Amino acid sequence: MLKKLKNKNPVNKVPKPMFIRPKETTQLKSKKKMLDTRIKDLKFPNLPYGFNQLEPHIDARTMEIHYTKHHRAYYDKFMAAVKNTENEGSTLRELFNRASRLPAGVRNNGGGFYNHALFWNVLSPEVDAQPSGKFALAIRETFGRLEDMQKQFNEAAANRFGSGWAWLIVDANKRLAITSSPNQDNPWMDDADIKGTPILGIDVWEHAYYLKYQNRRPDYINAFWNVVNWAAVEQNFYDTTKSLSD
Ligand SMILES: [Fe+2]
Repeated sequence: MLKKLKNKNPVNKVPKPMFIRPKETTQLKSKKKMLDTRIKDLKFPNLPYGFNQLEPHIDARTMEIHYTKHHRAYYDKFMAAVKNTENEGSTLRELFNRASRLPAGVRNNGGGFYNHALFWNVLSPEVDAQPSGKFALAIRETFGRLEDMQKQFNEAAANRFGSGWAWLIVDANKRLAITSSPNQDNPWMDDADIKGTPILGIDVWEHAYYLKYQNRRPDYINAFWNVVNWAAVEQNFYDTTKSLSD
């Protein structure tokens, strides 16, 4: 039985006392490890929820095609592109650090594989959490209100010409920033406009929204906030700031 989304706008609601985190935590651990795993050992990740569980904001058919066809194809082509080359012994982190010198097939499919794995983990049918603690403070210091951060993120996502991604990142100084990238690039790449660790991202390729929203990308972006897993984003923030301190 599907759990109904009662909280359509989590930004303005008081979080419920019960919030189940184990699944997200497990996924995050595997995602963090993913960046430092040898590419030849990378596995295609599980989707942490059912195709229909982000309805009505992201429809089941889009989720199914997006995960089983698009993400799967990035993974398969990435593995094929690195096979029997020196790249298969590298980690994703090492690979993205030399992205500007990689063959297009390795760069694009490696980015596509990683970006989608991150994307699935910052979405959830359970949306009862809100930014809290030091993460909420960092948002306030950088952007003002949460809504101001979302507005800037929405503009980056809406204005990304063609296909690409918008990101909330933590930069090398542990400051939050918003950026966007074309194609399957991401802020880990050595030639990114603004470099940093992505902690939240939105896929604005048409394959992410066209079936339900057609050309209305802003409607998809607005709907996206209804299924953002703030607990996972906040955990990404803490993991990142901690690793920058180590
Ligand atoms: Fe995608």
